[in-house]
Amino acid sequence: MKITVIGAGNVGATVAQQLAYYELANEVVLVDIAEGIPQGKGLDLLEAMPVLGSDTYVHGTNSYEPTAGSDIVIITAGLARKPGMSRDDLLAANAKIVASCAEQAYAQSPNALFILVSNPLDVMTYLTLRVTKLPRHRVVGMAGVLDTARYRAFIAMEVGCSVEDIQALLMGGHGDSMVPLPRYTTIAGIPLEQFLSKDRIEAIVQRTKDGGIEIVNYLKTGSAYYAPAASTVEMVESIVKNKRRIFPCSALCEGEYGLRDVCIGVPVKLGSAGIEQIIEVQLSDDERALLERSAADVSKNIAKLVELGY
Ligand code: LAC
Repeated sequence: MKITVIGAGNVGATVAQQLAYYELANEVVLVDIAEGIPQGKGLDLLEAMPVLGSDTYVHGTNSYEPTAGSDIVIITAGLARKPGMSRDDLLAANAKIVASCAEQAYAQSPNALFILVSNPLDVMTYLTLRVTKLPRHRVVGMAGVLDTARYRAFIAMEVGCSVEDIQALLMGGHGDSMVPLPRYTTIAGIPLEQFLSKDRIEAIVQRTKDGGIEIVNYLKTGSAYYAPAASTVEMVESIVKNKRRIFPCSALCEGEYGLRDVCIGVPVKLGSAGIEQIIEVQLSDDERALLERSAADVSKNIAKLVELGY
């Protein structure tokens, strides 16, 4: 198993560290255009391996040749938000970066699965499909796992229970119109409504929607990376071990939920082939309307890609 992580910033380096720590690959290649950064972080990580007891070979590079033959390519490259910015404000700048990374990585690793992490996430997932012309099961975006993780963390704090016992589903785009589904949230199999009032659930849903910007406002110079990295690595684990876990991920819909030609967060089964299935859960009319609104938001941004010439 060879995994390439593009972007040696906070998210990329943390992903590389965890992949190596959990020995999810024999080789992890960290790629960045910044001279010396991926080499330095890669070597530092390699030197941590004897302490961690991992034989993963980590190395960094400014070129794509060393990534050849990767099984998985993770794209984290691009600008992060600063306070006052929405994820969509990153579209034009990150489209240029992600399109170039996807093209170059694909040329070296035509059989790889691509995991997108760069924002605006759903649009970058779509862009990667367009640039690589890969079938949809081989390009997947990380966002729902992160949004769900935040939602679970907030619920656990409020209820005073283990995060491990909280199962939740969240759909839609990774943005202001994401669609948390309290109806599909349970704690040890018990519906969430039996633990929390409607008002408290609503407050947690709102904090989840604002979860990204809450961190940006603290950090000021960038966005979250520990939770995004952990979420990415959980997806990688399901692929590498063919666990076929079901996660909310950004995937290209071709009729599922009545949506077409849009990448959006839906529950998918992730295995060694990538997206093995998009699961269509039953939604109420209200939930469906929220999902459709979220998809419309993403589609508007996908249209901007066309204007930009992609
Ligand atoms: C977040 C950004 C990275 O949600 O999208 O933290």
